[in-house]
Amino acid sequence: MSLDLLKDKGTPIEKQKFTWRDIVQKPISKLNDDAFTRIRIILMNGIEHEANRFSHFFARVNKEMQLPLAKIRRIEQHQQTMINWLLGADHSPLETTIGYEQVAIEVTAAVAQKEPDSYLAQNYRYGLLEDFDHMYRYSALMDRLEGKDANNILQNYTDVITGRPTIIEHRDPEDDLRNHYDRKNAAFITKLHALTIMSGEQQTHNYYMNIGPLFSDPIARQLYAEIAHIEEQHVTQYESIIDPHETLMEKWLMHEATEIYNYYSCVAYETDPRIKAIWERFLDYELGQFQVVKELFKKVENRDPEEVISAKLPDPIEYKSQRDFIRDVLKEEVGFRSVGKDFVKTPEEESRISREYRDQLNSQGSPSESVATGYIYKPGTELNNLDLVVKH
Ligand SMILES: [Fe+2]
Ligand SMILES: [Fe+2]
Ligand SMILES: [Fe+2]
Ligand SMILES: [Fe+2]
Repeated sequence: MSLDLLKDKGTPIEKQKFTWRDIVQKPISKLNDDAFTRIRIILMNGIEHEANRFSHFFARVNKEMQLPLAKIRRIEQHQQTMINWLLGADHSPLETTIGYEQVAIEVTAAVAQKEPDSYLAQNYRYGLLEDFDHMYRYSALMDRLEGKDANNILQNYTDVITGRPTIIEHRDPEDDLRNHYDRKNAAFITKLHALTIMSGEQQTHNYYMNIGPLFSDPIARQLYAEIAHIEEQHVTQYESIIDPHETLMEKWLMHEATEIYNYYSCVAYETDPRIKAIWERFLDYELGQFQVVKELFKKVENRDPEEVISAKLPDPIEYKSQRDFIRDVLKEEVGFRSVGKDFVKTPEEESRISREYRDQLNSQGSPSESVATGYIYKPGTELNNLDLVVKH
């Protein structure tokens, strides 16, 4: 399937219509559907969410654009709802959390290997090892609270071991900002990657902020508070790699292009035919939305859209287990730290401000350490527990 962003018209926005039955479809099967179907659902929810939030921000600072923004934003709202509601109520909030971290690990790893800018690739590898550790901490929480094995959700695609320990991921904001790509010279794929990963991290931050207070277990409440803090750092880090000199029209065009690219990637890898039909439909919708924004861009900025995007999409994001790559990164880079906008190779080189910052934050204990005390991941935890019950 090859697409031309400038020529393919997709579905005209007037025809992008929904009903409530259409919006609220049968959820996926938690255990029978492939874990990568859930990964795509979670990521696409984040991509649509960012489309919506960005559009609201734009509308708040630009009167002339409010109507076209509102029209397209309403469609994004329906798209996001349809996608997010594909996660069924049989997913506990903690199981969905495991899904969110699997997205952060597997998608970031796929992106890190395809990113042509070596500094940004390093940035993705750096963030990846932190989400990798979150997975371990939440798996410990799941074992403790629900007696469940996180691997039921992960389906063997992702390892459950420690990464860069969460306790030391807390940094001073000065060590979270990064250099940004240059909008005039950056490759199209570089811009698509940055917006994709930023959107994923942002929805993870939102999700933890919303569900953290729903837990009654005191360690769970603290752990969500702690990891939500890291996700806020991750959003800070990833939004800072996007060129802030892009105009808002340029950013709108990039948002639509990023949605197209992501649906295109989902279509390429989806194994569930019913879900694939949704990705195909929304790919056509985004192409239709892109046409509208492209015309507005030409009119308002009097520039060629190809200064911002390329007509041809890069290869799709690879939805497959990145275990071997991640193990290598873990071995080589777990000791890396970020200092200012750069990375250093040993913990000893870390900045004093970040050390002091987290010493204060962790001075009354660390939830991510407490939750994992005595926890070593073993496959089939549920069966082991059952065994104990039977013996007693
Ligand atoms: Fe959308
Ligand atoms: Fe995370
Ligand atoms: Fe993260
Ligand atoms: Fe869109």
